[in-house]
Amino acid sequence: RRQIRNVCCIGAGYVGGPTAAMIALHNPHIRVTVVDRDEKRIRAWNSRHLPIHEPGLSDVVRAARDGLRPGVDGTGHFDASIEETTTRAPNLFFSTACAETIAEADVVMISVNTPTKRQGQGAGRATDMTAFEGATRDVATHSRRGCIIVEKSTVPCKTGQLIKNITQQHRPELDFPILSNPEFLSEGTAIKDLMRPDRVIIGCESTPSGIAAAEALADLYASWVPQERIVTNNIWSAELCKLTANAMLAQRISSINSISAICERTGADVGEIAKSIGLDRRIGPQFLKAGLGFGGSCFRKDIASLTYLAESLGLPEVAAYWEQVLTMNNYQRDRFALNVIAKLNNSLRGKKITILGYAFKKDTGDARESPALDVIRMLLEEGPKSIAIFDPLCSEADIRYELSALPAADAQDVVKVCADPYEACEDSSAVLVLTDWDMFKMQPRSAPVKAQPVDSPVIASFSPSTPADLLHLPQRSKEKPPTIVKDTVAVGTLPEEIIARLQPQADCETGCEE
Ligand code: NAI
Repeated sequence: RRQIRNVCCIGAGYVGGPTAAMIALHNPHIRVTVVDRDEKRIRAWNSRHLPIHEPGLSDVVRAARDGLRPGVDGTGHFDASIEETTTRAPNLFFSTACAETIAEADVVMISVNTPTKRQGQGAGRATDMTAFEGATRDVATHSRRGCIIVEKSTVPCKTGQLIKNITQQHRPELDFPILSNPEFLSEGTAIKDLMRPDRVIIGCESTPSGIAAAEALADLYASWVPQERIVTNNIWSAELCKLTANAMLAQRISSINSISAICERTGADVGEIAKSIGLDRRIGPQFLKAGLGFGGSCFRKDIASLTYLAESLGLPEVAAYWEQVLTMNNYQRDRFALNVIAKLNNSLRGKKITILGYAFKKDTGDARESPALDVIRMLLEEGPKSIAIFDPLCSEADIRYELSALPAADAQDVVKVCADPYEACEDSSAVLVLTDWDMFKMQPRSAPVKAQPVDSPVIASFSPSTPADLLHLPQRSKEKPPTIVKDTVAVGTLPEEIIARLQPQADCETGCEE
């Protein structure tokens, strides 16, 4: 068995940081160093304020980076609620010294960003491999003999060959084992997903060195992942299974959203349908919530990459099949925004619109690829007086960066990012709840919060409404109750008695998920 002592992870992002921290936590005898060119990000990883928000992440980082022994439950699993006791030697490091760290590593995991290409051949669909190629060149230049190169980023099928070509250009005398080890964590639940993954996929070449490398990587995971969940594939299958998994998950959301459009025309209830079909064990209940459609940095780009791959392989029908998942996703957002505009008498002039929740889903501060941006784009075309956004985690800087991609020249002036949900809702004509943050939901068993009389705001919510979904903002103080709370609305899915209590213009349809 190959002994691994030093792991280098290139890319200190949403995947690299948490994954490296988890490997370090469970392998105290191994030194894990995460490197990134972005000094600010590395400084944050070395501070008390980590650059990304994930429930449980800071406990894992403190344990591995600062040497605090974590609480561990009876089965050996890390449990933040169990008191930390003695110290352990720190074995997780964050650094900008890329070349030096690569040179010492037995394993290099490449976890850099692989966004969609913005220009040139395949723009809008093909994967932009600039960062991945750059990182691969660094590895090819600085790594030592026999270093295992692991693709952790999501990449097109056959990227292993690209790595091989690059390493052979730089070090023709050496043969580096190459593995594909795609990451399946979801933002918002990254630590939970990493702690108990459904599976760990390791793709390798079927050569003795490829198989030995796969075993060595499997050993790192076996410190906390049951053996039967560590699955070895051929390298091309491992690469393609990540794109396939994301395409299938996104397809479920588009499928249920297509049904939600039929529901709104017929009086069928998409929530009831999702529940009914989800009870079929062959279908299952996950990813069946109708809403604004999927967002986040992965689904759209990975399906785009899949369609581009299919087309480059001369399979236009396959490309068209998956393209439709994206078409349905865009359609759903457009429908939502148009419905809001229609409910406001087809004019937003002089009106303020509030958006509660910017992140593409709860428990993440990641502002990339948010469905909210598409909604804002359409609302801006109607010339509203202002759009006020409140999100509990997304930073104003990140939201403003995203807004800079909008065509409206005055987007930055019209949109205000508020630190307070009540301020965001003040004098608003419509309140759109676009992220399923718990703070916007009715707490179980708490009484509905009484609204102060306001000018019949339209409240459009992320989920088809039931009385239990009544919008709830946490009360600031007894003296100042929330100013905007009314019934959430979802035309065609609400019981009659609730619709009867709504203001005439206050009806609107479903919103978002994922
Ligand atoms: P990210 O953008 O948060 O982080 C990537 C980091 O890599 C950045 O900090 C960047 O500065 C750094 N970087 C780029 N080139 C570098 C180089 N040559 N040397 C050193 N550092 C370099 O990206 P994220 O979200 O962590 O995604 C990484 C990969 O994982 C992508 O391929 C993505 O598709 C995949 N993935 C992402 C998931 C997510 O939920 N965000 C889930 C599963 C996979």
